[in-house]
Amino acid sequence: MVSTDGLALAVYSHGDPGAPTVVAVHGYPDDHTVFDGVVEILREHHHVVTYDVRGAGASGTPSGREGYDLERLAEDLRAVVDAVSPDAPVHLLAHDWGAIQTWHAVTAEPGEHQHSGLTGRVASFTSMSGPCLDHVGLFFAGRTGATRREILRQGLDSWYTALFRTPVLPELLWRSGLAGALVSATDGVGRPKLRDAVNGLELYRRNLPARLGDPQPRRTDVPVQVLAPRGDRYVTPAMQTRIAAYAPDLRVRRLPGGHWMVRTRPDVVARCVAELVAHVGGAEPAPALTRARAAARPGAGRWDGALVVVTGAGAGIGRATAAAFARRGARVVVADLDGDAAERTAELIGTATASGGAGRAFPVTVDVADEAAVSRLASDVAAEHGVPDVVVNNAGIGMAGSFADTTLSDWQRIVDVNLWGVIHGCRAFSALMGAHGEGGHIVNVASAAAYLPSRTLAAYATTKSAVLTLSECLRAELADDGIGVTALCPGFVRTDITRTTRFVGRDAGTEKRLQKETTALYARRNYTPERVAEHVVRAVERNAPLAPVTAEAHAGLLASRLSPALLRAIARRDIGPR
Ligand SMILES: NC(=O)c1ccc[n+]([C@@H]2O[C@H](COP(=O)([O-])OP(=O)(O)OC[C@H]3O[C@@H](n4cnc5c(N)ncnc54)[C@H](O)[C@@H]3O)[C@@H](O)[C@H]2O)c1
Repeated sequence: MVSTDGLALAVYSHGDPGAPTVVAVHGYPDDHTVFDGVVEILREHHHVVTYDVRGAGASGTPSGREGYDLERLAEDLRAVVDAVSPDAPVHLLAHDWGAIQTWHAVTAEPGEHQHSGLTGRVASFTSMSGPCLDHVGLFFAGRTGATRREILRQGLDSWYTALFRTPVLPELLWRSGLAGALVSATDGVGRPKLRDAVNGLELYRRNLPARLGDPQPRRTDVPVQVLAPRGDRYVTPAMQTRIAAYAPDLRVRRLPGGHWMVRTRPDVVARCVAELVAHVGGAEPAPALTRARAAARPGAGRWDGALVVVTGAGAGIGRATAAAFARRGARVVVADLDGDAAERTAELIGTATASGGAGRAFPVTVDVADEAAVSRLASDVAAEHGVPDVVVNNAGIGMAGSFADTTLSDWQRIVDVNLWGVIHGCRAFSALMGAHGEGGHIVNVASAAAYLPSRTLAAYATTKSAVLTLSECLRAELADDGIGVTALCPGFVRTDITRTTRFVGRDAGTEKRLQKETTALYARRNYTPERVAEHVVRAVERNAPLAPVTAEAHAGLLASRLSPALLRAIARRDIGPR
């Protein structure tokens, strides 16, 4: 088709024109093919339109710099929208400079009612890695609530924009092949086409000085979702997402991945678009979309609307952990072998919620040692509440006594719960999180016993050191999916575990006495599960690989690294109640 100022625009249409129309606008230095993967998926249920923006791909090249003005680009977008969907509003998807120009097209300065003729023509806008340039100006002026650190970080990440505005040098860098080699090496995408790269420099030169010099609080009422890749080298999540004042109907999804996520995870981008299109069309919002809405509210914390699954949450560390996440605004699935205990935890959280707490709790009965039950838990959670942001594999049992006295069935029971329970949880939920592509975190509750040998804890310590090593390996494997893994290693914590710990090789009476004495010992130590729960939250927030909790757990870890021989000597002593 032909633009209003007479340039040829190459427009590509896919799928059934009767289905909801998605118009996708590419960035710099790309052409419409950047959306190929997304189009392949979306075209099944949508009418998808891509086009080469002026100066790129098969579209014409403006004769001068003015031809790259945001107003002109907005007019092109309007012309495409009118041509491909004259009767119904369209859904917009845009990346990088495509998002910059789309933001300009869908927003208006205060007092302006209509802009670019797009009013009423846009049903939703999914923006990736490209902000409104006016909002960028406000961000750097400290007027979006960003911290100084966020502004500094973005300033450093924007180095190339200053380079692109200098004359001649950027052209030389592209023509010499240097810039292309750099982009393809650092971002893992193919080399851009020379014509696209050179022409598009004018986008920076024409628009940055004009918009950043006198930024306006441009606003839109269109439903917006921002997909902010956490590893974007050019556009930080802080600059893209602190915009609720200008786009009140906002959703924010911070995703694992880099600037070209649109190429590397087209499945995730397509799903996010499809979810918003469906919701705007009247469907119930997908859980991840509800979460994205909660995350976009001004003043929203990290855990608002998040989903957390905790096993063994009917008591002790699990109960306190569920409550800690709920207090911060998360929804919590409280799973325990003891269904009544899970109910009580949910009630406690519910009561706290009524008196000003934030999150909500859903109790379920599950035996973590049962693979089928854990698999079912994962699929039920996904169906009812969405894919969790955090899974805490906490359920565990205690066992003490010599190796010689530990029977095969003792071994089987403790390995089933403490190790297989964690393996089942990791298998079921890491698969869900990986396929979902929105990252997440797994906490496996090990113990300081994982690195402290003891002649009386062979079975328990074996399961816990296996959990520690499993967590380290899994962390390495899941890093590329943006899923963190933490091994939590508490020392002595005042919970009911000491009342139920098996003392193998002892008669029932002695076992009772030992349970009582150990409970009294832990009570004197008096380290509460609530304190452990705060460590869990912090470990997730910091993506800690290993989280020792309590002074003895820290000291033991240090000793295991500095002087394993000392620990071996201590391990031979029979300490504790006898
Ligand atoms: N308390 C400590 O001193 C301490 C120290 C280091 C590690 N840990 C570990 O912390 C975790 C939690 O321990 P806690 O002290 O809170 O114990 P706890 O006994 O107070 O609570 C454990 C909860 O797990 C549940 N559970 C047990 N087996 C289960 C199963 N098969 N499926 C589902 N749920 C099951 C129990 O019903 C209980 O509600 C355990 O993995 C434990 O090994 C505890």
